[in-house]
Amino acid sequence: MATNRTFTMIKPDAVANGHIGAIINKITEAGFKIIAMKYTHLSNEKAGEFYEVHKSRPFYNDLVSYMSKGNIVPMILEKDNAVEDFRKLIGATDPSKAEQGTIRNLYAKSIDANAIHGSDSDDNAAIEGSFFFSMLERF
Ligand code: CMP
Repeated sequence: MATNRTFTMIKPDAVANGHIGAIINKITEAGFKIIAMKYTHLSNEKAGEFYEVHKSRPFYNDLVSYMSKGNIVPMILEKDNAVEDFRKLIGATDPSKAEQGTIRNLYAKSIDANAIHGSDSDDNAAIEGSFFFSMLERF
């Protein structure tokens, strides 16, 4: 059964290019409620931990170094069918394949600098959300 929460992170390219406001507008206009949000950054070590699941992939080192080179905006979002609906809103991982009007189609530059992350399952949404937001915080 689909839960009603997902995790997202506006990535360093979109932050550096001034797209935080436009991206948050797209997210809230699509009916997602922001439950938790931070403006922060990842150390190389923390980025490595977050992307541990991709450790054996050829792009892992580049991904970790990229994700630790600028500020990010992680968020927990709420909406019915959140994980699936959010992945539709952001579009394909490779922005050249992302449908028109999706966040990656509008704001992403490349598969590495692809503007935004969206969890791919309810389990990962819970794991990724708790990586940034502690149970002691109110959300
Ligand atoms: P995301 O799905 O948010 O998290 C993993 C990231 O790895 C992905 O976005 C891309 O930015 C990056 N990446 C780089 N190369 C690839 C690839 N070939 N396949 C999937 N993800 C890739």
